[in-house]
Amino acid sequence: MSSTVSIQQNLSPLLSLGTLCKSLAISGLVLFLFYTFLFNPPNNYQPSDLLSTIKQKWPINIPPTTNNIIPPTTNINHIVFGIVGSMNTWKYKNSYSAAWWQPNITRGYLFLDRAPTPEFQPWPSNFPPFRVNEDVSKLRAFPRMVRPMQVRIVRTIMELFRQGDKNVRWYVMADDDTVLFVDNLVGVLAKYNHSKYYYIGSNSECVKSNFDFSFDMAFGGAGYALSYPLVEALAAKLDACIERYPYLYVSDFMLHSCLADLGVPLTHHKGFHQIDLVNDISGLLSAHPQFPFLSLHHIDTVDPIFPSMNRSEAINHLMKAAKADQSRLLQQTICYHRPTNWSFSISWGYSTYIYENIIPRSILWRPLETFRPWARNARPPLYMFNTRWLSNNGCEAPHVFFLDSIGRSDEGDQIVTTYIRKSARGLPPCSFTGNHSADPITKIQVFSPATTRMEAGGRDCCDIVNMGRSNNITEVKYRACMKDEVIA
Ligand SMILES: *[C@@H]1O[C@H](CO)[C@@H](O)[C@H](O)[C@H]1NC(C)=O
Ligand SMILES: *[C@@H]1O[C@H](CO)[C@@H](O)[C@H](O)[C@H]1NC(C)=O
Ligand SMILES: *[C@@H]1O[C@H](CO)[C@@H](O)[C@H](O)[C@H]1NC(C)=O
Ligand SMILES: *[C@@H]1O[C@H](CO)[C@@H](O)[C@H](O)[C@H]1NC(C)=O
Ligand SMILES: *[C@@H]1O[C@H](CO)[C@@H](O)[C@H](O)[C@H]1NC(C)=O
Ligand SMILES: *[C@@H]1O[C@H](CO)[C@@H](O)[C@H](O)[C@H]1NC(C)=O
Repeated sequence: MSSTVSIQQNLSPLLSLGTLCKSLAISGLVLFLFYTFLFNPPNNYQPSDLLSTIKQKWPINIPPTTNNIIPPTTNINHIVFGIVGSMNTWKYKNSYSAAWWQPNITRGYLFLDRAPTPEFQPWPSNFPPFRVNEDVSKLRAFPRMVRPMQVRIVRTIMELFRQGDKNVRWYVMADDDTVLFVDNLVGVLAKYNHSKYYYIGSNSECVKSNFDFSFDMAFGGAGYALSYPLVEALAAKLDACIERYPYLYVSDFMLHSCLADLGVPLTHHKGFHQIDLVNDISGLLSAHPQFPFLSLHHIDTVDPIFPSMNRSEAINHLMKAAKADQSRLLQQTICYHRPTNWSFSISWGYSTYIYENIIPRSILWRPLETFRPWARNARPPLYMFNTRWLSNNGCEAPHVFFLDSIGRSDEGDQIVTTYIRKSARGLPPCSFTGNHSADPITKIQVFSPATTRMEAGGRDCCDIVNMGRSNNITEVKYRACMKDEVIA
């Protein structure tokens, strides 16, 4: 082994030297850019100038149309939701649907395996209206079905279609332990042509879950969207498809197979979260990719997402931020404070981390692995994304703060989200970057614009406007990123 390596080195000394020089030059350039932009941010920037430029450019973004009838943009009324539940567990899970369902605004139904028990009669008006699924034992394929319950679930899409709702562009399916972020969903679906066949969703976080079924299957708990014409076509063919696949034991895989037979592949969209994970998912929720946050599933199988709250309280707490500004919810914004050599990573409406070190975004984008995979016996690589391991090194471990409250600035033009320390970090300060301890900081207040929403795929930049030396409260202010600002 070692002799092969030395032979190669002897054969191509110029190549290795060249490569070495090139990589040194590149890393030198990267370091130069990093230091130039990080440590000398231009200070002649006027936020209002940038805003007015964006406003002037705005009308140009309207797509050209071939005729002068512009169909209205997709809105909440164009979506019908199908929630799959079961009467046995509804008692424990109804708070999750109630967290996002807007009575008389969101359209759709909860499909149950049987009629509501007396404790849910009359059916509360703040719940989605219920329907009872058809009995699959009457189907011809019934004797060959390995899991009739899964057939009931997949047929929900067809039964939802048969409700006959009018003016529907999208059907969105989810489980009763899924929380959906409806405003963000509307924004994402509005970007797709609802007149075409679309199957939009996301696979699992875990490599093994995807490997066991399909990397191109939407995991139903995460929620997925089907365009109206696709559901129309599927509804006509679903029972015939079930006859082809009665041996499949997972409804999501049955749907994937039936849609594949119709020639329709999955359109992967980040932001749907199956959460095939256990324990503490705060690391994942603190480093969300730059896509609108669309759903959260398996709330009962992970720790409450906020420490010191129970699960439904924690979800309702997150919904307060979702109501204030869904477009920024869990969007990660990173800024640096040069006088202390600290990095701030903010997951808007959820958490804020302080690192006593300047850590590049390419690293901070990787979630801290606070969680474990669903399958205990899974072997690495475990996840569909890169992670960082937890560290006991004061230069790598963050100080962690979670959302406490939401308010408005005195002028009313800023949303103020306040994050408080989860617990003392319990590590000595990072001496290598100047020994500046963040231990005294008890609160972080983040000011974000109340009047502008974040564009999908957009980003914010931020400044530390007050380190809080007098009161131990650090203030961070969001602003639009400058045109030439290095965000790397
Ligand atoms: C929804 O609308 C119906 C009929 O207009 C009304 O009776 C009901 O109280 C409303 N429910 C809620 C929760 O607003
Ligand atoms: C949407 O798709 C339909 C069907 O393919 C097509 O007729 C229509 O032109 C498309 N609309 C846009 C805005 O692309
Ligand atoms: C969660 O906490 C809330 C508020 O304290 C309480 O009303 C609710 O019963 C709790 N839920 C559970 C499952 O303990
Ligand atoms: C920041 O960290 C560098 C080492 O990365 C150190 O040389 C410098 O003195 C530190 N700056 C301050 C203000 O402590
Ligand atoms: C860092 O600060 C601590 C007090 O917070 C002090 O005990 C320690 O000696 C300092 N270390 C260095 C290298 O300055
Ligand atoms: C800020 O924190 C320091 C260190 O924990 C503490 O001594 C001081 O009293 C705090 N100041 C305020 C205003 O709370």
